Amino acid sequence: MVLTVGRRLHILNEYSSRCLKQVRRSHATETFKWSHRVFSGIQPTGSMHLGNYFGAVQKWVEMQNAGESVIYSIADLHSITLPQDPKHLHSNILQITATLLACGIDPDKSILFQQSRIPEHTQLCWTLGCLTTMARLAHIPTYKEKSATVKEVPLGLYVYPVLQAADILLYRATHVPVGEDQTHNLELVQHLAKIFNNRYGHTFPIPKAVVADSSISRLKSLRDPSKKMSKSEQDPKSRIEITDTPDDILEKCKKALTDFTSEITFDPEKRPGVANLITIHSLFTGLDPAEICEQNIGLDTGRYKLVVAEVIQEKLEPLRQQVQQYMSEPQYIEEVLNRGADKASVIAQQTWLDVKTKVGLQINEGSYRCLQVSEKRVM
Ligand code: AMP
Ligand code: TRP
Repeated sequence: MVLTVGRRLHILNEYSSRCLKQVRRSHATETFKWSHRVFSGIQPTGSMHLGNYFGAVQKWVEMQNAGESVIYSIADLHSITLPQDPKHLHSNILQITATLLACGIDPDKSILFQQSRIPEHTQLCWTLGCLTTMARLAHIPTYKEKSATVKEVPLGLYVYPVLQAADILLYRATHVPVGEDQTHNLELVQHLAKIFNNRYGHTFPIPKAVVADSSISRLKSLRDPSKKMSKSEQDPKSRIEITDTPDDILEKCKKALTDFTSEITFDPEKRPGVANLITIHSLFTGLDPAEICEQNIGLDTGRYKLVVAEVIQEKLEPLRQQVQQYMSEPQYIEEVLNRGADKASVIAQQTWLDVKTKVGLQINEGSYRCLQVSEKRVM
């Protein structure tokens, strides 16, 4: 369903009056409490993998189902900070949306939208970019990691965390469920919110990162357990994707890098490869690592890999089929993204208007009249 202009205005008015009430309340009580709102994003650079699922998306679904106000973005503008094939990018946007739906994101309960459809993200990004320094951005670990992979560093890669700040602040989010790799980016978001509030008055909540416990918040690459599982890793065998077939899963588990000790013990420091497999097993079954080790006494790592593969195959197969089902209905995915953009746009426009006004960019009715008067004087 596409919202009509009338309906959009109605929602905008409703939202404005709610915000105004909040602002009035904020003047009345010194300690202002922002309404709880969740925002997070995922890049459509490839298929969603187990690190994304357990590190972030599972939490997204839980928060949605707990009735929280949740907004989730397909962060396509972030994905073009490194070169993307346009055809792949387009189909990845559809595929990641289909995967999120299959994982349980419900467009009636969440706002699910494509970032580039809302121009206020880049407008706020520019505004926030004027409040931070190049030195501060150069120290962010995700920038250091990604810039090390390219010869010529694109400006977008440098500015990436500011765009992420704009994503979150545009919706005045209070909580941001992410994997551990994002915590430094979140510190920048908090820093920018504070700078803006100090300079222009109370405008943004200071959002908190919601990070899963340490074993989940950074699942490791199957090929090199010293690295995180990642969409951008060259070798597809380094990650298990939600859309992998049972054969892919078996192959990837068999090829997972372990070590020369044969029994199954959980020691993330000394045996990171085996520990990573046990963690995945534990996440899918709810068993704790000690129970898993006990259940698999007597197996060597080669045979244990087959056990893990079977657990993953069984859990992922229904999801994979659901993704395929959604992918066979591209109009439905389009409709979901249209509805999401309509809803996101209402909030984004409201915040941007507030920001523009505070920064002095907004020519409102009053100042427009002054301008006409001074124009007359000139003529
Ligand atoms: P990205 O793939 O970079 O768009 O990440 C989307 C979300 O998944 C972010 O919240 C990341 O922190 C999270 N994430 C990505 N890789 C991992 C991983 N290996 N382990 C845990 N969480 C991850
Ligand atoms: N930077 C995040 C990542 O690489 C994706 C992202 C974009 C995001 N905008 C966001 C995450 C806003 C949380 C909030 O994984």
